Amino acid sequence: KQIRTNDIRTENSPLQIFVKAKKKINDIFLEIDDYVDDTVRFIDSLKDDHKIIAQEEVQKVEAYKDKVQGIRYVLKRDHMKVAFFGRTSNGKSTVINAMLRDKILPSGIGHTTNCFLQVEGSDGEEPYLMTEGSDIKQPVQSVGQLGHALCKEKLCESNLVRIFWPKSKCLLLRDDVVFVDSPGVDVTPNLDEWIDKHCLDADVFVLVANAESTLMLAEKNFFHKVSTKLSKPNIFILNNRWDASASEPEFLDEVRAQHQDRAVDFLARELRVYNTKDAEERVFFVSAKETLQARLKEQKGESAHSKSTAKHENIYEMTNYSDWLNFSLGGALAEGFQNRYFEFQDFERKFEECISKSAVKTKFEQHTQRGKHISTEIRQTLNEILDRTQKMKAEQMNAQKEVRDRLNFTEQQLILLTQEMKDKIHRMVEDVEQRVSKALNE
Ligand code: GTP
Ligand code: MG
Repeated sequence: KQIRTNDIRTENSPLQIFVKAKKKINDIFLEIDDYVDDTVRFIDSLKDDHKIIAQEEVQKVEAYKDKVQGIRYVLKRDHMKVAFFGRTSNGKSTVINAMLRDKILPSGIGHTTNCFLQVEGSDGEEPYLMTEGSDIKQPVQSVGQLGHALCKEKLCESNLVRIFWPKSKCLLLRDDVVFVDSPGVDVTPNLDEWIDKHCLDADVFVLVANAESTLMLAEKNFFHKVSTKLSKPNIFILNNRWDASASEPEFLDEVRAQHQDRAVDFLARELRVYNTKDAEERVFFVSAKETLQARLKEQKGESAHSKSTAKHENIYEMTNYSDWLNFSLGGALAEGFQNRYFEFQDFERKFEECISKSAVKTKFEQHTQRGKHISTEIRQTLNEILDRTQKMKAEQMNAQKEVRDRLNFTEQQLILLTQEMKDKIHRMVEDVEQRVSKALNE
């Protein structure tokens, strides 16, 4: 049942746009690689004949081999990258865990994440981590142990620790999404270094704001800096901790409208990355903590409650899901959980659409142009070689014709000459005979 549900999600996921495009462009570059190989082999077989192939042509075609190999290397590793920023304790790590449906990253009160953490998929079954500048794969047994391993290392806040999590455990990782968690933007003066090191290749940014307070200057400044270095970055704003609103239902609509206006104003008027209408689509009110709890429970529930939930193919179909979950969590969910949960799912859907389209464009467009350029250049070189050989052939035929014509002419001349000589000799003989007989008579 789990596999079937996953299949449905995989097929429908907008991430497939990227996954399919990546497969296609990799296949095309494999063909280009073969084409370049064939050309190199062909040119190699002719290279001793300097009249046909120039040395520069041999070098030019051979250089394409390295270029294509380089592009193929990059393409195999291309992924969609999403980076999370926000003030300390707003819930960045919890949002990532909720999206990954597992407690992967350490989260907690106080300043928890103290360097950049990148979660990416690995093919093996065991998770491990690698610190910056080291090839050593350190095993990760649990979140607690991960937190401990990170504390042990003397890491600078802009350092990157890569966490490799089995793809088999998470669909987003299997579809090549890479998550980057950051320390709070309010705890560092090194924002420029952060942006240069970790943000320039990000396809989507998620600003995790705190719905219990408001967007802060530190957060705004960070994104102002980002938008000076990247043209029109894709930014989503999550007003996290929205579960807090349940305790003050009388102000809920008012507070929501206030946050919404401020966030839209920030995206549309200050950063100018969207128009007002599009900006409205990028702001969400969620509770990462609740979503994570619910998903963890849901996974356990698959086995514990398999009978009662067997008729549901996936969560979208569960009308009484909230009741069931609330029951499973022992009534721990705050009022309005279902709306927040659906809003989190809505965010994920729009995020998936945005990241896959953006990544296809930024990651593959340039390579597509390069692939076209390489194949056109090689075709041109081969055409030039073909033209040259055809010209040489025509010249040779012309030269042969000239020789033949000259021979014919000589032959004709010889015939004429011979005839003339014969006549002349004949006349001479007659003349001599006449003179001899005249002399004899005299
Ligand atoms: P740093 O790594 O320190 O910058 O913090 P962070 O932004 O990664 O926050 P983290 O995910 O560690 O969450 C901080 C605390 O807030 C944790 O105790 C979470 O359980 C809690 N928390 C996160 N999201 C929510 C939420 O939506 N609602 C509530 N009530 N608590 C949350
Ligand atoms: Mg954190």
